[in-house]
Amino acid sequence: MAESVKAAPSFLSTRRPDTWWVQPLLTAAGLITFFGYLTYRAMNATYVWAEPYISPTVAPPLFTPIAGYPGSVPVDHAWLGAFPTWWPSFLPQSPAFFIPGLAIAFRFTCYYYRGAYYKAFFVTPPNCAVKGGVGSYKGETMLLVFQNLHRYTLYGALFLLVCLWWEGFSAFFKHGQLGIGVGTVVMLINASLLSLYTFGCHSWRHLIGGKVDCFSCDGRVSPRHKLWKGSSWLNGRHMLFAWCSLVWVAFTDLYVYLVSSGTIHDLNTWG
Ligand code: FES
Repeated sequence: MAESVKAAPSFLSTRRPDTWWVQPLLTAAGLITFFGYLTYRAMNATYVWAEPYISPTVAPPLFTPIAGYPGSVPVDHAWLGAFPTWWPSFLPQSPAFFIPGLAIAFRFTCYYYRGAYYKAFFVTPPNCAVKGGVGSYKGETMLLVFQNLHRYTLYGALFLLVCLWWEGFSAFFKHGQLGIGVGTVVMLINASLLSLYTFGCHSWRHLIGGKVDCFSCDGRVSPRHKLWKGSSWLNGRHMLFAWCSLVWVAFTDLYVYLVSSGTIHDLNTWG
């Protein structure tokens, strides 16, 4: 009697007839481009300040360099002034090492980004219904257990958000004079998109709506329910705001760089 032997599915085998590989390819290209650009800028903190604008790669600045970094944040704008003398000489004097770095921890452990870079870089699997090649995903265990810290990185992101809104509103004042420039609008859009991304976070949604069995058992619609519904709406668009906010952070930095380096002129009411 003939015996049928089933071949084990090989690497990237799938019955999907569509171009399933486009999505992970674009994701990988986008992540490399934007995170690469922002990391480079954060580690080369020059032209990050154009009064009253500041790049989000260094905002808010705890320390600022006092020499060797053209276009750096003025000492009186840094929370603790100039970098301390004990700062290791092999490290660039970048404010990004401090509070702005909270954004990296938040994005790196974000549920959406995890799914995106696991697929794009580790092909585990590269897309739905496609056989992966690098081991198999076993959840956030072993080496990946740190991903569970995401709920705590949220607090850092909320703090950073307050700081970026503060910097955005501060950009209405140049040398104490009230006005507005294109840079002000760019910085406020940046804070808005980051808010839309942060308030759609799964951890935030759980924080405001988790552990509640019934929102309206007492016959009233609670404000908490409205908040949770708003967060749920944003959560459904989390990927969209993850990308929009990432792209706009890079754009805001680029805008400040171009104005600070004198490459372009900022249209504003200060003259
Ligand atoms: S799940 Fe994406 S920021 Fe929390």
